[in-house]
Amino acid sequence: MQGKLYATDLFPIGQIDHRINSSLAEHMGRSIYGGIYDPDSPQADDSGLRKDVMAAVKELNVPLVRYPGGNFVSSYHWEDGIGPRDQRQQKVDLAWQSVESNQFGLDDFMDWTTKVDAEAMIAVNLGTRGIEDACNLLEYCNLDTNTYWANKRRENGHPEPYHVKFWCLGNEMDAPWQIGHKTAHEYGQLVNETAKAMRSLDPSIKIVVCGSSNEHTPTFGTWESTVLNECYDNVDYISMHQYYELPSKGTMHHVAKSIRMDQFINSVVALCDAAKATKKSDKTLNISFDEWNVWYHSNEHDAHLEPWQQAPHRLEDVYNFEDALLVGSSLITLLKHADRVKIACFAQLVNVIAPILTTKDGLLKQTIFTPLRDVSKYAHGTALRTSAQSPTYQVPEFGDVPYLDAVTVKNDDHHYTIFAVNRYQTESLDLAVKLNNDQLQETSHLSYSCTDPEFKNSPEQSVLEETIQDDGQIILKPFSWNVITFT
Ligand code: AHR
Repeated sequence: MQGKLYATDLFPIGQIDHRINSSLAEHMGRSIYGGIYDPDSPQADDSGLRKDVMAAVKELNVPLVRYPGGNFVSSYHWEDGIGPRDQRQQKVDLAWQSVESNQFGLDDFMDWTTKVDAEAMIAVNLGTRGIEDACNLLEYCNLDTNTYWANKRRENGHPEPYHVKFWCLGNEMDAPWQIGHKTAHEYGQLVNETAKAMRSLDPSIKIVVCGSSNEHTPTFGTWESTVLNECYDNVDYISMHQYYELPSKGTMHHVAKSIRMDQFINSVVALCDAAKATKKSDKTLNISFDEWNVWYHSNEHDAHLEPWQQAPHRLEDVYNFEDALLVGSSLITLLKHADRVKIACFAQLVNVIAPILTTKDGLLKQTIFTPLRDVSKYAHGTALRTSAQSPTYQVPEFGDVPYLDAVTVKNDDHHYTIFAVNRYQTESLDLAVKLNNDQLQETSHLSYSCTDPEFKNSPEQSVLEETIQDDGQIILKPFSWNVITFT
């Protein structure tokens, strides 16, 4: 099969914000307990933090981590997780019907972010709480005043403010399952007032307002318009969440699902720009795609979970190769929207629908780890409009789907990197590349391929690695994720 790719500096999409490689660490399942924090593990450091997990997170090069939820945040009292550990109380977690030990909390998370070189994005509880609590939390994190909560932080061993820049006001507040769910009107007003109060404490913060919990909700669209009508002037980003479900329509349909992400982003951009026009505002609202992934492998197991356990095995999806290709195509989609998607959090980071799965004394990097690591490592600079042509195939819902999905990045050091997926399961794709009409040399080609869509990395089965391809031509192997660099 033949394919053609053309891109030029003359048609930039936008500067890539490295924060599109961010992630979510929620208090649920074994994400925190047994994942990030595991004092009984032989892998624990002096603070109980897993050294092997920190090394894997650093390898993924995650710039920002959203915390503490997710749904968890909507009934969480952050004060329960600070101060001496032996005085912290166990509480019920209403979102996941679990027991929260509170042995890990805000200060522990901030110490961990320093160790993994990441920035924190903190979500505030707008489910069971409101403006006053959001301001107390902001004071604790960011203020240098001689006042109660800033002094509490000092008392707890943190003299300097954390200067957390990114704040999510609630989580999925449109969703009927959310504790403290609100109507769009109520939520929009609450965000506006909370944002005003928080900005009066710290004008440097950036605020994310909740968009819809997914694109299929009956209120999608009207939720965004109503909420933004209330709070447009006081927010900086709107959130998007999307999870890809069971591949019930087969592999070729599954690996094309990133088209949905593309359509969803286009819709939310249109809604933001409509709000901008209505408000006659000069400000353009950007997107924080702060939850996205494949999520279905664990559904059957989790349907039988007993409530009120502590850190149960929950949402522990074991990913296969077709998931890795879909994650790769989704990353390409985010890059194609580099002008408007400025934050994206892969959900989640450890154990819960995650690229990293731990046992007591070791960890497994899942198939999806590879494209996530590659984009974070190599996609620096400007995304370019890319014409990628290839034969197509037909699937219901998407119509004609090209076998080739690709985007070009002009790196800051004037290299060009193409990220490409060949969706064809049995045929390779011979790619003719033209960049800027120049004679550029291909200098490296990383290829990650497997013809078995069901292949899973596991300690028993060898972990699938990327290979270096060097055959003079650019051949994308059947069913492959590719990173090709030119100088
Ligand atoms: O990531 C798992 C859950 O999915 C999050 O808690 C919630 O925000 C979303 O529905």
